[in-house]
Amino acid sequence: MQALQMRILFVCLGNICRSPLAEAVFRHEAHQRGFDQLDIDSAGTAAYHVGETADPRSIEIARRNGVAVTSIARQVSPDDFSSFDLIVAMDAQNRSDLLAACPDTFKPRVRMMRDWDPAGPGDVPDPYYGGASGFEDNFAMLTRCCRQLLDEVHKTLSE
Ligand code: 4NP
Repeated sequence: MQALQMRILFVCLGNICRSPLAEAVFRHEAHQRGFDQLDIDSAGTAAYHVGETADPRSIEIARRNGVAVTSIARQVSPDDFSSFDLIVAMDAQNRSDLLAACPDTFKPRVRMMRDWDPAGPGDVPDPYYGGASGFEDNFAMLTRCCRQLLDEVHKTLSE
């Protein structure tokens, strides 16, 4: 198969709950399909948790599903807009914060994660202040979105 080369950055607020889970699920699903040339990362719009491992609740829901979450939180940097092909926001606030910092030429790269949800668009809800069920819902939603996004990436890169 032809090498698939694309850089994708998943972004939430703190880079400890949703975007590390999106990064891990996407990498896992890509690996399952043999797409090993994709460069996947995640970051937060805020700096509150820079340097921390992901929230234990994200690590646990992923682990129960055979997915490893290994990211260390970092904040979005100005270079990310030019270096990633796709910058995927978890919610509308993340998207708006990204667009405020993004040079006009790269704004089309900023998209919403649930643009790829077969169940319909919207936010990936912030699970930080809730219970375990929020993380379970996030995992199912992110898995649906990652599979659809992978279908699209594969199609784009095969053309
Ligand atoms: P995330 O969740 O954006 O999915 O990583 C949050 C993590 C931390 C906070 C809020 C949301 N916080 O307020 O510290």
